[in-house]
Amino acid sequence: MATLAGKVAIVTGAAQGIGRGIAQALAQAGAAVMLADVNADAGTATAAELAAQGGESRYRHADVTQEADVRALVDATVAHYGRLDIIVNNAGIVAVQTVEESSVDDWDQVMAVNVRSIFLTTKYALPFLRAAGGGAILNIASVSSFVGQQGTPAYCASKGAVLMLTKALALDYGRERVRVNCLCPGITDTPMLRFHARHEADPDAHLQHRLQRVPSGAMLYPEDMGKAAVFLCSDDAAGITGTSLVVDGGYIACAEFFAGSPG
Ligand SMILES: NC(=O)c1ccc[n+]([C@@H]2O[C@H](COP(=O)([O-])OP(=O)(O)OC[C@H]3O[C@@H](n4cnc5c(N)ncnc54)[C@H](O)[C@@H]3O)[C@@H](O)[C@H]2O)c1
Repeated sequence: MATLAGKVAIVTGAAQGIGRGIAQALAQAGAAVMLADVNADAGTATAAELAAQGGESRYRHADVTQEADVRALVDATVAHYGRLDIIVNNAGIVAVQTVEESSVDDWDQVMAVNVRSIFLTTKYALPFLRAAGGGAILNIASVSSFVGQQGTPAYCASKGAVLMLTKALALDYGRERVRVNCLCPGITDTPMLRFHARHEADPDAHLQHRLQRVPSGAMLYPEDMGKAAVFLCSDDAAGITGTSLVVDGGYIACAEFFAGSPG
């Protein structure tokens, strides 16, 4: 497995779900990890768990939509650990609302958490990434960066924006050895997924139905995203920037999929 020994990382939305899985994998690969979230109870519990596993991590409360919070998060990370090499922009929310059901504030909040946050972390981290001689920015996008999903227009729009922002940032900072990529999860078992499924009459049946349309047929877990994130943030991926890694069990490879043997 790739090593991140000596590297310092910030993971946003690290208290639970995919962010927690990525933070855990980064710490196990040797990085010191600053966990940022708005859920202080879960965030401090995750930091304690990582420490018990021998990892180096701390929790810092930061709302990634707020410029002052993000700036303070970056400054506090460098003040404590002395450098910054990796940003994982994972914090995200989904609104299960059609356009007609959404207020302007609903729309703006999804775009602020999922997209503005990447603008802010990149803006304030770049001077420190440069000072470290380069670095890695990993944005957690989605299969919704490529294909639409019913009932979540703001989310789909935001994840499409994450994909293109990733490419634009990779162009602007490639010569400074700052690599920018995105990781696009498929159906991954997290509190967000369960929240989404609760809008259905039978959440478990709904999830099983969705998995029927996945070629692998398997649920993904935060650990799967953690392994991919370690690779993309490590020097093993030195030649990779401005692209996306889809970790979805084949979900978006097909227009239609019927379980069973071909023909
Ligand atoms: N679970 C999936 O199936 C799936 C699929 C594709 C993409 N994703 C993406 O993966 C990322 C993580 O999703 P998840 O399923 O783990 O979600 P989750 O809701 O389980 O966890 C998200 C975390 O982000 C935090 N957060 C929310 N708003 C924040 C803010 N303003 N500032 C700081 N932290 C904030 C939450 O407190 C929470 O700890 C998201 O970007 C999501 O869009 C998830």
